[in-house]
Amino acid sequence: MIHAVVGAQYGDEGKGKMVDYFAAKADIVVRYQGGGNAGHTIVNEFGKFALHLVPSGIFHPHTVCVLGTGVVIHPANLVRELRQLEEKGISTKQLVISERAHLVLPYHIWQDAYEEERRQKKVGTTLQGIGPAYQDKVGRFGIQIGEMVDLGRFRDRLESAFAAKMERIPALQSYGTFSDVWDELLEAREILLPYVQDTLPLLMQAVEEDKHVLLEGQLGIMRDLDWGVYPYVTSSSPITGGIFAGAGISPTSVGRVTGITKAYATAVGAGPFPTLLNDDIGAYLQERGEEFGATTGRQRTCGWLDIPTLRYGAWLNGYTELAMMKLDILTGLDQIGVCTAYDWNGEQHRLPLPTYALEQATPVYEYFPGFSDDLSGCRTFEELPIAAQNFVLAVEQLVGVAITYLSVGPNRDQTIVHTHS
Ligand code: IMP
Repeated sequence: MIHAVVGAQYGDEGKGKMVDYFAAKADIVVRYQGGGNAGHTIVNEFGKFALHLVPSGIFHPHTVCVLGTGVVIHPANLVRELRQLEEKGISTKQLVISERAHLVLPYHIWQDAYEEERRQKKVGTTLQGIGPAYQDKVGRFGIQIGEMVDLGRFRDRLESAFAAKMERIPALQSYGTFSDVWDELLEAREILLPYVQDTLPLLMQAVEEDKHVLLEGQLGIMRDLDWGVYPYVTSSSPITGGIFAGAGISPTSVGRVTGITKAYATAVGAGPFPTLLNDDIGAYLQERGEEFGATTGRQRTCGWLDIPTLRYGAWLNGYTELAMMKLDILTGLDQIGVCTAYDWNGEQHRLPLPTYALEQATPVYEYFPGFSDDLSGCRTFEELPIAAQNFVLAVEQLVGVAITYLSVGPNRDQTIVHTHS
């Protein structure tokens, strides 16, 4: 079974928790795009973790964790993350890194800061060098991690890539020297090389043997390079389309796609966010939901659930089911809003619009009765208050996809399986 877990909103939906949940039965977990901009929060018996690069299956010793070809890797940051895990007693031996994955080099981080600073309209990037690393990959200036094997050749490649970068953006020279870059990489290289291999045979064998392979998406559909709120997007494809190139899995082999959505909406970074609540309710959701970016610590802005975004994903990602996270956070609200369409140019639109139009669109809301009960102890759908059940059923109807999992707290066991017989 090839099972994809993807973000159905603007990222930070709670994919980490669900991948950790599904990973208990998975043989392999694969990250297929993105890099250290991710912040997958996981709470389990080992503690609370914000994983940036390492796949969320790492806590299950039998699960092989793959950083796929489409991922971009900052070697020193990955080493730091591995050390933090090891310090808490978690083995990282089952990590495998595709030799074709690209490096995020120190000068990509310099470039991210430099470009973001100079932009008139900020993207609000995570400053992890993600955009510049993908720019270099697409521009054919990038370096694949497998190239670190041959030290002499690697140094030559890095020297010329560094020189070319400094020629194109001379201002980066004030951020550091080639020696800074080289020293950092040399240290990380020793530690990472044992993990680097061709990941394709591993995945081919897993598919042939009908193993359970989980594909862990990073970010969400509204930050997708092609379908998100361009230019306020990331530089890769978080949608399921990104899997085929980024992991090396054929489209026909993916059998299950779980879209992860919160019961409300959040965003971090710039760009249109039509259901933003700039009021007490937005502040209530932010505070109750502890909505802070796991990588940057920035406050996430909050708003009502956006059905057009979920519909968009039902088509583009092919959800076979949805998981609704943080349902417990809605407790205490008199009524719960849901955006069913956008009003733009005198017409109603059932799907997201391109950025220029979305910036002017106004959401059309439907409201449902709220509930005051604490949901954190509920373990079945029937234990939820009727108002919460009705809200979930209404969202299912509006999107046209079954909501199979409901999360009522950060721990693994605070997950309700909602079977549809
Ligand atoms: P970048 O991926 O760092 O280039 O940032 C591009 C956009 O994606 C910005 O709006 C970021 O705030 C957003 N972004 C990147 N990674 C995450 C994440 O893990 N969660 C939420 N937003 C993210």
